[in-house]
Amino acid sequence: MKVHHRLFLGLLLVFGLAGCGSNEIVTNVGELDFEQPLKIPELLEPEILEDGTKHFTLTMGPGTTEFFPGTNTDTWGINGSYLGPTVRVSRGDQVSFDVVNNLGEVSTLHWHGMLLPPEMDGGPHQMIEAGETWKPHWTIDQPAATTWFHPHLHGNTAQHVYRGLAGMFIIDDEDSEKLPSEYGVDDIPLIVQDKLFTSDGQLEWDDDGSYGLLGDEILVNGTHDPYLEVTANQVRFRLLNGSNARAYNFGFTDGRSFQVVGNDAGLLNEPVTLDRIMLSPGERAEIVVQFEPGDETILRSYSGTAGIESGEFDLLKIIAADELTESEPISGELSSVPPIEVPEDAKIRQFNLTMENDINGKKMDMKRIDEVVAAGTTEIWEIHNFGPEHNFHIHNAAFRVLEVAGGEPKEYERGRKDTVFIPHGASVKIVVEFADYTDMEFPLMYHCHLLKHEDGGMMGQFLLVEPGTEEEAPLELDIEVDESHQH
Ligand code: C2O
Ligand code: CU
Repeated sequence: MKVHHRLFLGLLLVFGLAGCGSNEIVTNVGELDFEQPLKIPELLEPEILEDGTKHFTLTMGPGTTEFFPGTNTDTWGINGSYLGPTVRVSRGDQVSFDVVNNLGEVSTLHWHGMLLPPEMDGGPHQMIEAGETWKPHWTIDQPAATTWFHPHLHGNTAQHVYRGLAGMFIIDDEDSEKLPSEYGVDDIPLIVQDKLFTSDGQLEWDDDGSYGLLGDEILVNGTHDPYLEVTANQVRFRLLNGSNARAYNFGFTDGRSFQVVGNDAGLLNEPVTLDRIMLSPGERAEIVVQFEPGDETILRSYSGTAGIESGEFDLLKIIAADELTESEPISGELSSVPPIEVPEDAKIRQFNLTMENDINGKKMDMKRIDEVVAAGTTEIWEIHNFGPEHNFHIHNAAFRVLEVAGGEPKEYERGRKDTVFIPHGASVKIVVEFADYTDMEFPLMYHCHLLKHEDGGMMGQFLLVEPGTEEEAPLELDIEVDESHQH
């Protein structure tokens, strides 16, 4: 009885919100042959400059990609036709980039999860006009993490990411190097994205539903129908939900468990053993999976309750070779960075996410400063969701989840994160450690990472300023805003 009641409520929610009439779960289970070898994004080699800086060139441009054998799909990519290469550096490295825009229209490239001077963030204020090159540079100064990059053009992020602009940015440190780290061998990126395709194999754009685009086909690293042969008995997978709106509840079809070793903004202090992990758009997790010779299993996303969690998808078939290289079991101590503590006098801010997809009654305005934060401080942010499902991401910060809907967060959510799922109708409380870069001119963003919501204005801006100078910060920026690219 209870089950039926909940199911009915769930269905009511899905169809009420998505405005769709069918009552079948969206799924690809049973439809795949797992015939395409999983593509592994190329590891981008830096050029070493005279002062030791690692210099990378990322060129965004159009191309065609063969997702389906014999069909050329028009896509966008970075240094290639779809997605980008993987950038990998170590804590302490100085990095610089040439970000070349060959798209034929304005875009940006944002470093999601990175602590850096606000001017280098690549958010809506660092537009790169068609044909131009943007040259950000900074020193990597944060614990090891799986971060990523994607455009952040105000009003048009959803389409730019959907067409293929995204890539992984890995930061190593002494803690992370103790984990399996051989890229493409026992350290494997998995960028998971849902797509809609037209009958002739082109990317289809339909974001009429309240969450925006929810696809019925899955690409992993831009591979449709993928399989992967592993050759090690322990493999670290870096899961990135690079989708516009869909959440994935990852697990394996043979019921095997795995160890979660890291989430968005860093490694956990200790591994957590699970058989499911849910990631909403923009979130990452690092998991370590054990294999026996000859194992075969499928990484699947299991259907959740409603909304962005609904749908069941096979993602990747994994086949273990007949002989596997053996490595030491992973240590019980991972990150040496202590958990983010709640300071006694922590400033508390409240954020209301409403049915109208705004935050505290306001839609994003590039000229308006919504919050002024003292750089290097730690605050409590309480996010209240009065609408359907959302999530919440903060630039230039790492946070720990303190409370979800009045209860304890899941164990793996207590590590360092930068994006968190906000369930329907729930409040989430986080303790946020802000980077200590300051800038009175260039704001940073907090927003829902469901890209239709973000584009629709569910985003606010904050300045990080020298502690004690909060009062001097402008609440309006003296800038010209060109809105012609906004949809
Ligand atoms: Cu992944 Cu503000 O972005
Ligand atoms: Cu949202």
